[in-house]
Amino acid sequence: MIRDTAPFLALVREYPSFYLYDESVLLSQARRLQRDLEGAELLYSIKCNPAPAVLRSLFAQGLGADAASLGEVKLAAALGLPPELIYYSAPGKSEADLAAALPLSMIVADSLGEADRIQAMAAGQGLTVSIGLRINPDYALGGGEGGPSKFGVDQDQALEALAQSSRWPNLKVVGLHIHLRSQELRSAVLSDYYQAMAELALRFQEVLGRELDFLNVGSGLGIPYAPEDRALNTTALWEPVRALKARLPHTRLLVETGRYVAGPSGVYVTRVMDKKVSHGTTFVILHSTLNGFLRPSLARLVEGYSAAPAPCEPLFTCTDSFRVLSLNGSAQTERVTLVGSLCTAADVVARDVLLPRLEVGDAVAITHAGSYAAVLSPVQFSSQLPPAQLFLTGDGKVLDATL
Ligand SMILES: Cc1ncc(COP(=O)(O)O)c(C=O)c1O
Repeated sequence: MIRDTAPFLALVREYPSFYLYDESVLLSQARRLQRDLEGAELLYSIKCNPAPAVLRSLFAQGLGADAASLGEVKLAAALGLPPELIYYSAPGKSEADLAAALPLSMIVADSLGEADRIQAMAAGQGLTVSIGLRINPDYALGGGEGGPSKFGVDQDQALEALAQSSRWPNLKVVGLHIHLRSQELRSAVLSDYYQAMAELALRFQEVLGRELDFLNVGSGLGIPYAPEDRALNTTALWEPVRALKARLPHTRLLVETGRYVAGPSGVYVTRVMDKKVSHGTTFVILHSTLNGFLRPSLARLVEGYSAAPAPCEPLFTCTDSFRVLSLNGSAQTERVTLVGSLCTAADVVARDVLLPRLEVGDAVAITHAGSYAAVLSPVQFSSQLPPAQLFLTGDGKVLDATL
């Protein structure tokens, strides 16, 4: 939470809207996971915030990369990660994606057809290629049997394909990738999941007749958004990770994380441009909300359609996911509706909220802006300037996060 508003106010004079990612938060989140998930290797899910300053900091802390596109593979490679620390897993890769990613990363095939295409490529080059396979297990997080998914290969189809030794003579399937859902706050659910995935990996090892090099159990590691959310107890994951490792002693255990490390590290700040009263409602007009940081405005939109909207990650978590804070510290409060400057009535970030009184030139800060924030926002709409992305280093310097 913001304790000292002075650094923000200085930046507001320079930038009408900006993200600020705090390296000390980023690294303390990463270190907590490294400690509590001892024995697992962490991969940072670049998609949630690909700002190079964020990547550099996390890679220097020892995290590898979960890349969801060739662009992310290239980004991680350009920042110095070796191929064995870049895992490229996404549906719908093109042949050009596969060819370019092959020397830079561990490719995780998302379908049998994709594995066939990698096989053809490897045969054409006279190579044997190690790959991972994304699996859609007969398992649902929190209970249940799983079901249809656009991600990965159904467990039974994968086992059957691997049993046919002639299908992929130039491929060696060395690892499995599973990711079922994001934003889980119950450690017991993740614990059960880890044990089920160990079981699954053992079944694959039996069919393959050898040990897997890696088992990537994806993410799921959630963060509290709503005031009533209780933080995920990561210390309770230490024992499940240890138990999984004990069953697969020669297999690297990979855990992906995006929002857990990056989400709380970021704040979005936008300036008050105007203020008016209409039919008794006080509107505070902010420089950039929906187009600068989409998710808080999307929550307002979604709540208009349903009393209890279901989460739809990474666009919508819950209606009360973000705190909007006034940065002027006025002792006087005022009930206001906060809107952005776009020419659409949908550009509302908070309705009828009590905040310290805001004047033109002041600013508000919105929390949880470190993940699925800048990347998801429609900055091209209305030809406005995108918000700056800044990085507060551990030693107090403010850098351009995008360089
Ligand atoms: C395969 C995969 N791994 C990891 C993540 C990261 O999830 P989170 O940011 O919740 O950690 C996602 C998010 O969509 C994903 O699809």
